[in-house]
Amino acid sequence: MIQIPSETYKIEVGSLLESSLADVLNSKFTNSKKVILADENTFEHCVSFLTSNFDALSNAEIVVIPAGEENKTLEICSQVWETLSDYHIQRSDLLINVGGGMVTDMGGFIASVYKRGIPFINIPTSLLAMVDASAGGKTGIDLNHFKNQLGTFAHPELVICDPEFLQTLPKEELLWGQAEMLKHGIIASTEHWDAVKKMDLESIDSTIIAQSVTIKNDIVLKDFKEQADRKKLNLGHTIGHAIEGFMLDFNPLPHGRCVAHGILAESLLAHKFGTLSQADFMEIKATIENLYPELVLTHEQLDPIVNLMQQDKKNRGNEINFVGIKGIGEVIIDTTYTLSEIREVLQQLFMRS
Ligand SMILES: NC(=O)c1ccc[n+]([C@@H]2O[C@H](COP(=O)([O-])OP(=O)(O)OC[C@H]3O[C@@H](n4cnc5c(N)ncnc54)[C@H](O)[C@@H]3O)[C@@H](O)[C@H]2O)c1
Repeated sequence: MIQIPSETYKIEVGSLLESSLADVLNSKFTNSKKVILADENTFEHCVSFLTSNFDALSNAEIVVIPAGEENKTLEICSQVWETLSDYHIQRSDLLINVGGGMVTDMGGFIASVYKRGIPFINIPTSLLAMVDASAGGKTGIDLNHFKNQLGTFAHPELVICDPEFLQTLPKEELLWGQAEMLKHGIIASTEHWDAVKKMDLESIDSTIIAQSVTIKNDIVLKDFKEQADRKKLNLGHTIGHAIEGFMLDFNPLPHGRCVAHGILAESLLAHKFGTLSQADFMEIKATIENLYPELVLTHEQLDPIVNLMQQDKKNRGNEINFVGIKGIGEVIIDTTYTLSEIREVLQQLFMRS
């Protein structure tokens, strides 16, 4: 079991059966009611493992919500809050969120607001939730199609990432998680980049997950409120979010795929207009193109995408804020490129004529 200390809690990576879950349930929460929150897929694939292997959970109440980002809403939260109230859940009771980042984000939000905050444990079951949403204390839900507009910073009691759950995760979902792991490699470690790019998606082990979690966790511990270093985690997201937001209305693309395209475009920006070497750029390009489907944009789509970048909440003043890449393993925050540089790169990478 790999243990990664975070702010007030531990992130454990390894088998649930070897984790401190049983100890925590049987010590701090002996007399607490336990509620498990899952979506319909994690209810089917993950929850029975918990209820059948942990005596303290055999009688837990189970609340199942519909799967998918479109359900990360205030309406679903209200339904869960009403259910918690029907179950007479008190401040000393415990919510256990079992699912991808949608469930852990929303469950954390539900717990942090209900009765001004009840304790919660996160058991992430998707790769993305294990390597990214597991650290950093952000909870949240979407509002009118805008992502994570309502949220809190709140710490779970414990997070356990058991790679065994990845066996039932669809392959594309693994790829979207891998994009965030590649990002961690570019931000902080050539070794991690090398390991992640050739990772076997059929058997992802605790070590590589823990390396990604550690990179994110180290950054978050230095800069919890995103004043400086935490901005590094936005690599690939300035362009990725704009593509994702633009596509939302007619051809929604998964977040992880957009991040991969964003990493590619931001690498070309760094190569052409910054200090990223040709060799490192070609390495990033070959890796992304090998793993992810090609993205083709039309000339008419260019302006709306650039407009969305200009509205990004990370910007200051009129400048679009990027993470600059110096090399695989080293990035700098608060980098800017001109609009014509950004257009040139998007045209070069994503337009066919
Ligand atoms: N809090 C943070 O710091 C942070 C960081 C990154 C992402 N997020 C959030 O995470 C969300 C994306 O997370 P995600 O990619 O896990 O999406 P998700 O939770 O929607 O899960 C993706 C799909 O996989 C299914 N699934 C999850 N685990 C499974 C399993 N073991 N077996 C079978 N199916 C399974 C889900 O039901 C869903 O259909 C977004 O809402 C994003 O905003 C939060």
